[in-house]
Amino acid sequence: MKFFIDTANLAQIQEAQELGVLDGVTTNPSLMAKEGISGDANVKAHYKAICAIVDGDVSAEVIATDYEGMIKEGEELAALDEKIVVKIPMIKAGVKALKYFSDKGIKTNCTLIFSAGQALMAAKAGATYVSPFIGRLDDISTDGLDLIESIRIIFDNYDFGTEILAASVRHPMHIIQCAEIGADVMTGPLSAMEALLKHPLTDIGLAKFLEDHAKANG
Ligand code: G3P
Repeated sequence: MKFFIDTANLAQIQEAQELGVLDGVTTNPSLMAKEGISGDANVKAHYKAICAIVDGDVSAEVIATDYEGMIKEGEELAALDEKIVVKIPMIKAGVKALKYFSDKGIKTNCTLIFSAGQALMAAKAGATYVSPFIGRLDDISTDGLDLIESIRIIFDNYDFGTEILAASVRHPMHIIQCAEIGADVMTGPLSAMEALLKHPLTDIGLAKFLEDHAKANG
């Protein structure tokens, strides 16, 4: 399972990269705005800065919602760095844009996926990744993990090459359950990744080991 970090914060990306388990980065317009990044030149410079840190795919989202605009913006983003994956919303013009980029060999991430039908459409159009938002489904009392399971079955039935990128991951159990189901990738906050490595018995055990070692060694 690949681990992507879902942030545009350079310090957190650096920290996750140094941890040694990072496979890529996802961003979205809200995450860019949260970092105070605005204006075309600044946004592009920020994507380049992210690409310089991480070894792996970096999703950069288009703002345009019409086909021509998505193509223009997506091509500009893809030209920034070979790590850039053009992130495209699941709308009708987006499906056409996915096909265009797929035919050109440019990687895509179809975002804002909330149903298996949307994931199937994106896969048919040749998306590299589909991003089902599990946390946002959970927020409205709908099991996000059921969606991951359903997409897994569909993609396996037809051997689609499109990878399931579980997005809107909020906590470590989301990661574990996505791994059990067989999501190819998860994207979430650094805190959710770090929570995976923690266990109180590990801390208690380590303290006892160090205490016994200290006693035996004066
Ligand atoms: O980047 C897309 C997705 O991961 C957003 O997550 O927490 O805003 O629902 P969240």
